[in-house]
Amino acid sequence: MKLKIAVLPGDGIGPEVTEQAVKVLNAIAMNFDHKFSYNYADVGAIAIDNHKEPLPQSTLEVCKNTDAILFGAIGDPKYDNDPTAKIRPEQGLLKLRKELDLFANIRPVKAYKTLLDKSPLRKKIIKGTDISIYRELTGGLYFGEKKLSKDGNTASDLCTYSRFEIERISHLAFKAAEARKMKVTLVDKANVLESSRLWRKVVTEIGTQYPKVELDFLFVDNAAMQMIQNPKQFDVILTENLFGDIISDEASVIGGSIGLLASASVGKKYAMFEPIHGSYPQATGKGIANPIASILSAAMLLDHFALFKEAKMIRKAVDKSLKLQITTPDLNKKFDNVTTSKVGDFIEDYINNPEDSNLNFSNIYLGQSTII
Ligand code: IPM
Ligand code: MN
Repeated sequence: MKLKIAVLPGDGIGPEVTEQAVKVLNAIAMNFDHKFSYNYADVGAIAIDNHKEPLPQSTLEVCKNTDAILFGAIGDPKYDNDPTAKIRPEQGLLKLRKELDLFANIRPVKAYKTLLDKSPLRKKIIKGTDISIYRELTGGLYFGEKKLSKDGNTASDLCTYSRFEIERISHLAFKAAEARKMKVTLVDKANVLESSRLWRKVVTEIGTQYPKVELDFLFVDNAAMQMIQNPKQFDVILTENLFGDIISDEASVIGGSIGLLASASVGKKYAMFEPIHGSYPQATGKGIANPIASILSAAMLLDHFALFKEAKMIRKAVDKSLKLQITTPDLNKKFDNVTTSKVGDFIEDYINNPEDSNLNFSNIYLGQSTII
């Protein structure tokens, strides 16, 4: 298969982790006889530096003329503590999601068997957790009208949802549940918010079209508690934009590191694949950023094009790296010489040569060749 991929490394650790994902995609292309080509473009703080805007028109054009987008990370501390800043890196990502109509953000959360003791949560609580979060991505508070009074003392953000916006992501969530454990949990705040009450009404209606899927409701405050008390109860979580943002960071604790969580942002026409983590500016250039979220985002990209065998191969390689503790310091306190690019190298090597017997794992820690 030929695929044109837009690569938007973005800010902070974005470029380092994305580089590993591209490395891995190249290994897949070579071993499975595909042709992947890449078009790089700026987004976020780097785009503000180079083009004076967080999402230049040229970047948008690149995205619209490729089959899929691989996104790194966005954000720079120089904007975070300046509430008066008119231009912010995050606007680049939000505009991209809106312009490309990427309304559904799918965030898988899994407790890896080999990482059960990395989570601050107890093993017996998280063991077996396998959740798919369906976060609405182009509506709600993120995109509603924003106001700041003239005197600067009153501000508001409007949370609006239309039936159409709720329906389209609900169908995706129910379909996903049909292929999984047959359960959708709608997370909302219907005891307080009018927009949440519309979500409940519409999702209940859509649910009747999927009679085999159990539909459950949880208020977001309760859901936040249940997520760490009994995460195994969840299959597909369906929720609006801001609740999904918060609940997915919380859920990342189950896996042991936010550096493991990948996501797919899809619309009718376009699809973008992005780790859920941010730009982690303190780690930039140090080789300590975990590239697995980006690499697993590349696997989701392959799934999107029905390259299931290929995606599975990446996941197998990732599992192997976790099992052997060839991981960055967020997951591995023992070996501090396993850098971002070494994790990428290992996964690349494994794809090139998946037979265990051909891999000389002991050398990895010494920084020597991984293949004998
Ligand atoms: C995410 C991020 C973004 C969001 C930020 C960077 C705008 O936190 O993808 O979860 O809030 O959606
Ligand atoms: Mn977030």
